[in-house]
Amino acid sequence: MTGWLGGAYDWVKAFHVIAVIFWVAGLFMLPRFLVYQMASAPGSPEDRLWNERNARITRIILNPGLILVWVLGLMAATSYGFAGSGWLHIKIVVVFALSGYHGWLVGTAKKFAAGQRPYAEKTLRLLNEVPALATIVIVILAVVKPFTE
Ligand code: HEM
Repeated sequence: MTGWLGGAYDWVKAFHVIAVIFWVAGLFMLPRFLVYQMASAPGSPEDRLWNERNARITRIILNPGLILVWVLGLMAATSYGFAGSGWLHIKIVVVFALSGYHGWLVGTAKKFAAGQRPYAEKTLRLLNEVPALATIVIVILAVVKPFTE
């Protein structure tokens, strides 16, 4: 079961999982950084330091990770085949939602950089749990492959 990728399928899958680890690491780190940043006054030296860290993690880990996960995931998916792969359909929907969370997160970091604090710390702490929950669901779907015909 390798499809158009042939012998390269396992390599694409390996790099897909590597990209997933980078992306999810960023999705765990940035919301935690924002919780820490809540303690610093907008415009203070500490606040500026957090803004730099947020921008760097977005540029170096989050955005490239998101792109690589999608490109390599879709390469693997088109080779694997969508027919009868219920798990893959559900997985793509959940990853789509997680990509929306990524967009929200990066947007929120930009608002922090503009001196805004759009959410209460408790809300941010709660939203911190989203990547962990999504990872549990996605990995179970990818490994156990429920809803396979
Ligand atoms: C839209 C984006 C994605 C697509 C289309 C996609 C698709 C795929 C496909 C087709 C496979 C190969 C399945 C196999 O050969 O058994 C795979 C493997 C895997 N994916 Fe994704 N994936 C995406 C995003 C993600 C994300 C975000 C995660 C984790 C948070 C993830 C975790 C995994 C894992 C752990 C495997 C290895 C499963 C195994 O070998 O048993 N994927 N993915």
